[in-house]
Amino acid sequence: MRITPAQKLKHAVNNSEFRLAVGAMLLPTFHLAALLLLFVSAGRCADAAAGGDGGRFVYNGFRAANLTLDGAATVTPNGLLMLTNGTIQMKGQAFHPSPLPFRDPSAPNATAARSFSTTFVFAIFGQYTDLSSHGLAFFVAADRAVLSTALPGQFLGLLNNTNDGNRSAHVFAVEFDTLFNADFHDLNSNHVGVDVDSLESRVAADAGYYDDATGLFRNLSLISRKAMQVWVDYDGAATQVTVTMAPIGLARPKKPLLQTTVDLSDVVQDAAYVGFTSATGVLFSRHFVLGWSFGLDGPAPALNISVLPALPPAGPKPRSKVLVIVLPIASATLVFAVGIAIYVLVRRRIKYAELREDWEIAFGRHRFSYKDLFHATKGFSDKQLLGAGGFGSVYKGVLRKSNTETEVAVKKVSHESKQGMKEFITEVASMGRLRHRNLVQLIGYCRRKGELLLVYDYMPNGSLDKYLYDRSKGGLDWPQRFRIIRGVASGLLYLHEDWEQVVIHRDVKASNVLLDAEMNGRLGDFGLARLYDHGADAHTTHVVGTMGYLAPELGHTGKATPATDVFAFGAFLLEVTCGRRPIEQDEHGNHTVLVDWVTGRWRRGLIIDAADTMTPDGFNPDEVSLVLKLGLLCSHPLPNARPTIRQVMQYLDGDMVLPDLSPEHFGFTVMEQMYSREFDKNMTMPCVSSTSMGTVSDISGGR
Ligand SMILES: *[C@@H]1O[C@H](CO)[C@@H](O)[C@H](O)[C@H]1NC(C)=O
Ligand SMILES: *[C@@H]1O[C@H](CO)[C@@H](O)[C@H](O)[C@H]1NC(C)=O
Ligand SMILES: *[C@@H]1O[C@H](CO)[C@@H](O)[C@H](O)[C@H]1NC(C)=O
Ligand SMILES: *[C@@H]1O[C@H](CO)[C@@H](O)[C@H](O)[C@H]1NC(C)=O
Repeated sequence: MRITPAQKLKHAVNNSEFRLAVGAMLLPTFHLAALLLLFVSAGRCADAAAGGDGGRFVYNGFRAANLTLDGAATVTPNGLLMLTNGTIQMKGQAFHPSPLPFRDPSAPNATAARSFSTTFVFAIFGQYTDLSSHGLAFFVAADRAVLSTALPGQFLGLLNNTNDGNRSAHVFAVEFDTLFNADFHDLNSNHVGVDVDSLESRVAADAGYYDDATGLFRNLSLISRKAMQVWVDYDGAATQVTVTMAPIGLARPKKPLLQTTVDLSDVVQDAAYVGFTSATGVLFSRHFVLGWSFGLDGPAPALNISVLPALPPAGPKPRSKVLVIVLPIASATLVFAVGIAIYVLVRRRIKYAELREDWEIAFGRHRFSYKDLFHATKGFSDKQLLGAGGFGSVYKGVLRKSNTETEVAVKKVSHESKQGMKEFITEVASMGRLRHRNLVQLIGYCRRKGELLLVYDYMPNGSLDKYLYDRSKGGLDWPQRFRIIRGVASGLLYLHEDWEQVVIHRDVKASNVLLDAEMNGRLGDFGLARLYDHGADAHTTHVVGTMGYLAPELGHTGKATPATDVFAFGAFLLEVTCGRRPIEQDEHGNHTVLVDWVTGRWRRGLIIDAADTMTPDGFNPDEVSLVLKLGLLCSHPLPNARPTIRQVMQYLDGDMVLPDLSPEHFGFTVMEQMYSREFDKNMTMPCVSSTSMGTVSDISGGR
């Protein structure tokens, strides 16, 4: 809009200051002088004059500005007007200290709002480069109370929740909004809007400008921390508001950003405050105004861009929302992940924890890691369970070592006492050197707290007793049985006489005889004796073994000897031949001792009748008779009357003729023997198991 010098004079005269001056010089001839004075005065006013600036002022920086500041607003030492400072939920206002006369009483329409023009340079430093709190607004407000009760946040320090939308608020504003607020039907989070008594803009547009050269729209980011200039003009006659903006340094674009019809007559009243407000919410921003000029009834004085105070540096590589929001989440996640990892590692440590002592180094070759055994047995899963019995459970496992897979049986023995462990391990290690085709090979061990794991060769056909008693397995014919008997005898011979030390097995029985792939009988595991014997004299206190296989003398001596093994072997011979357990209990609780039962047959001259007839294939009466008689011979109550295992072997091989059994030989029954003597109080009786459990051996010194 163009304003002629005459109009300027007219308006100047309306100004109180000039009314005084004009009143003093009533002569019309002074009009010209007054005009001159006006120009001089206007020039002076441009330098940030006080209240009496005639509604026309310019601030190229605010160091010496006379502004009313409210809320967080301050003027920085270098002259920036900082409306909000870095605190959330704050408003900051800065306005011309005195209200400006927005109505001209001498004008034809005295209630019409006067034209005005303003320009300013601002910059918004969001908390993050890509996210900020609320924006900034230039306002014209009639009522100071409205300003003082205005709220921060979405209300921009302009209105409050009761007067928002109320015509009595008498507020006009041009907002530069940096947050999208659906309540106010905002366009987006980067827009310019014209507000009248409400934060819901009458009209709004994306922040930006139209390039003079191309006519194309160029976006401007309000929170870019870059200074941008705004021009707001109100044409009182046309009741039209024009808003234009551009990056600092660019000439005012010809095409305005916004143009809308707004009648400010009702809004501004007689006088109104002009200034800026801004607000922060849950995030903060710093809102700066670098320079401002204003003019009633005329164009705002031009700003001297070159002397405007400098903005603070855009920041040391301003942190982005991504960094500030994602980084803590990422680090929290990392901490969490590390925590989990530590937990897993610690759990793993506990899970795979072993006991290992210096003295065990000597047995390194036999020592397995728990982890390997754990994985080999699929975590000792029930699916891998081969059997469970008195001493623990046996699991099938597959050990993988450099492309070779070895099938093993892992026996888990619970053992609390540390005592005797060293001797026991020593024994295990030496047992590891026992090698015989009729012995189950012990491969190694592993030790944990309260637990001992023994690793054996895996025997694919399981234990012998299953074939004897579980008919679904198909049973064994006589030649197979005889072969197994011979095999076990030969294994026992190796233990008793052929190895460097005498090894007493102590638990010979069908369930401790395992069958390999070729159905060879192999005497099962070794070494548990020490474990259960320790605490006192290893050889005399506890008796470990299985009822029916225990030689009578064990009851009072408690000392395992080769002869006690032979006794058990005798019971085993009868068991395998007859397919009956050494002691059987009928439904009335009556016990039948196999030895006595066979002896009865033998007395009647019908010993062959005792044999298991379920699988008659290859039945050899001479062999059966021999084995049964040998069984009786070995079951003699007096240890000295029993043959040695070497003799047993010779009888089986036919190298020696079995002596005739005299009736006196069996003048008393084993039953009587067993019950006539009180067994040791501490005697341990592991339950009779159908697996290879509960085997006990003993090494009684060198030969
Ligand atoms: C600032 O303006 C107010 C109101 O117009 C006035 O009373 C005060 O004297 C001014 N102060 C200065 C330092 O000019
Ligand atoms: C911002 O201004 C307020 C009000 O003056 C003040 O309480 C606060 O400490 C300031 N914050 C900073 C960061 O300067
Ligand atoms: C809102 O502003 C009005 C003035 O326009 C004031 O009378 C009222 O008390 C304010 N309300 C609140 C809740 O501050
Ligand atoms: C300007 O920015 C707005 C919002 O970010 C976007 O929707 C619009 O497409 C942009 N316009 C141009 C011309 O870049």
